[in-house]
Amino acid sequence: MSDNYRKLNRASWDERAPAHAASADYALERFRADPAFLSDVVRFDLPLLGSVEGLHGVHLQCHIGTDTLSLSRLGARMTGLDFSPAAVEQARALVVATGEDVTFVEADVYDAADVLPQFSFGLVFTGIGALCWLPDIRRWAGVVARLLAPGGRLFIREGHPMLWSLADPRPDGLLVVDHPYFEREEPSVWDEGGTYVDTDAVFEHNVTHEWNHGLGEIVTALLDEGLQLTGLVEHDSVPWEALPGLMERLPSGEWRLIDRPWRLPHSYTLQAVRLEAPDELRIN
Ligand SMILES: C[S@@+](CC[C@H](N)C(=O)[O-])C[C@H]1O[C@@H](n2cnc3c(N)ncnc32)[C@H](O)[C@@H]1O
Repeated sequence: MSDNYRKLNRASWDERAPAHAASADYALERFRADPAFLSDVVRFDLPLLGSVEGLHGVHLQCHIGTDTLSLSRLGARMTGLDFSPAAVEQARALVVATGEDVTFVEADVYDAADVLPQFSFGLVFTGIGALCWLPDIRRWAGVVARLLAPGGRLFIREGHPMLWSLADPRPDGLLVVDHPYFEREEPSVWDEGGTYVDTDAVFEHNVTHEWNHGLGEIVTALLDEGLQLTGLVEHDSVPWEALPGLMERLPSGEWRLIDRPWRLPHSYTLQAVRLEAPDELRIN
């Protein structure tokens, strides 16, 4: 696999990170003003997430750190990891401004278990537009397995692969499957200005390479790494306006299809645990 996708995707994220930090959607001002403020994403996650108090956690693909900081505010000792220097810079500036103790590391997610302590995290947290940037879900599952301590858990909430497979909204409102559902070697190549927050910023780096991963592929990749699935819940809402014009905003801040939302899984929460010590930690 060529490294080209990393360069393209990183350039796109580097340009968007400051615009995201400046946008009302990421609510950085509210994080700075209110030490109890949590991101909408983590607030939504709470019923399934439960207590993270005292856990040593890592947030993979943490972007500008708002969810990472929210988990820290819930009592976890958090490290965020992202390959975009501009995103990490924004994340660090946020926690300096709020005075909270969160560490941010700049690295590719596939290198996470090489740059962070292996088999040491009680929580691996990720999602909301994270897995679609990774060409190989099995390789990602291997990284997650090498990060988790025995007894540690993975928590993902992510856009549903069925949602990712849909064509852009059509005038007739029909939902049409147009993009891959299963992982393919070839990326889906996009060339789109703009971003998912409300901003006047104009971007130059607009070509990205993305991949879908079927739900069964994600679950199987984790099971094959020795993790045990403990939860899989599909939701009828997603945190961004994934199908513009077809969705309405809910009081939670989530977006849902206006017309018969029960037709489509919009996002999902998957949880898995490492029960056993990995072979690497055994003396014999
Ligand atoms: C949509 S954001 C994640 C969203 C996050 N849940 C949020 O809204 O704060 C995707 C993030 O993945 C990061 N990313 C993409 N590919 C990556 C890779 N190969 N390694 C590490 N980070 C990556 C990007 O830099 C970006 O910050």
